[in-house]
Amino acid sequence: MNSSQSVAGSPEPAPQPVQRGSQRFAPGEGPLPDPAGSHHERRIRSFQPRRSRVTTSQAEALLKRWPDWGIDIDGKRVLDLGEMFGGLPVVLEIGFGMGEATAQMAAADPGTGILAVDVHTPGQGNLLGLADRNGLNNVRVANGDAIILLREMLDKDVLDGCRVYFPDPWPKARHHKRRLIQPEFLSLLATRLGPGGVLHCATDWEPYAEQMLEVLSAHPDFENTRADGGFAPRPDFRPLTRFEGQGLDKGHVVHDLLFRRK
Ligand SMILES: C[S@@+](CC[C@H](N)C(=O)[O-])C[C@H]1O[C@@H](n2cnc3c(N)ncnc32)[C@H](O)[C@@H]1O
Repeated sequence: MNSSQSVAGSPEPAPQPVQRGSQRFAPGEGPLPDPAGSHHERRIRSFQPRRSRVTTSQAEALLKRWPDWGIDIDGKRVLDLGEMFGGLPVVLEIGFGMGEATAQMAAADPGTGILAVDVHTPGQGNLLGLADRNGLNNVRVANGDAIILLREMLDKDVLDGCRVYFPDPWPKARHHKRRLIQPEFLSLLATRLGPGGVLHCATDWEPYAEQMLEVLSAHPDFENTRADGGFAPRPDFRPLTRFEGQGLDKGHVVHDLLFRRK
């Protein structure tokens, strides 16, 4: 732990700006800044590295729970999800943000394991804190790029589902290539989802919703769970997310899509 992560009981120093790529936690004690290293870095990524501060309570949760519930996406080993979740069916959530919705879903469905992945350290600490305080044993937090996790750290057919709630919309045309939901991503995900596994996406960005519907409908490995081939109503199990709330405040319309792996 460096001086910027003071915990309760010691005087807290003035917050320091986080240096991108700086080592905030010792290996094994907390998430590494760049777990896969530059040799794994894809040129086009669906996320933007953010400079953000970890609060004292987030740092405490990371120090307490990361050793058992945290996974650095280093691309160097294949995860044993059966052992990790005690044989529960496992759903991958990509981009959980601050994790409030993830924790709610984990509490509501203790019979499902949630492998929650994001690159955002404060969110990782927040979710681990929520899981710790609420006794949620069915959440694991992965740090890094979901693409590397899928490609190099998961076996075939191991996932029962995948959730992508309010992925970064990348509204500018020159950034559309950064959007996560693309044919190449779907082809990779389809190999990790078991047959019948459902990909559930939601977005408040209308043009992205249309793109999702188009690429998912055209993909040979997926079929729409809706007989009418359209968007789905929000299922009861999906709570309102933080990002969704911001979109609704701006008057955005939310679309859910549920597609099954053939
Ligand atoms: C717009 S936020 C939505 C967060 C949350 N689902 C919500 O609805 O409030 C998208 C999140 O996805 C994460 N993200 C984007 N691409 C990712 C990737 N390839 N691997 C892991 N996380 C990613 C970002 O860091 C960000 O936290």
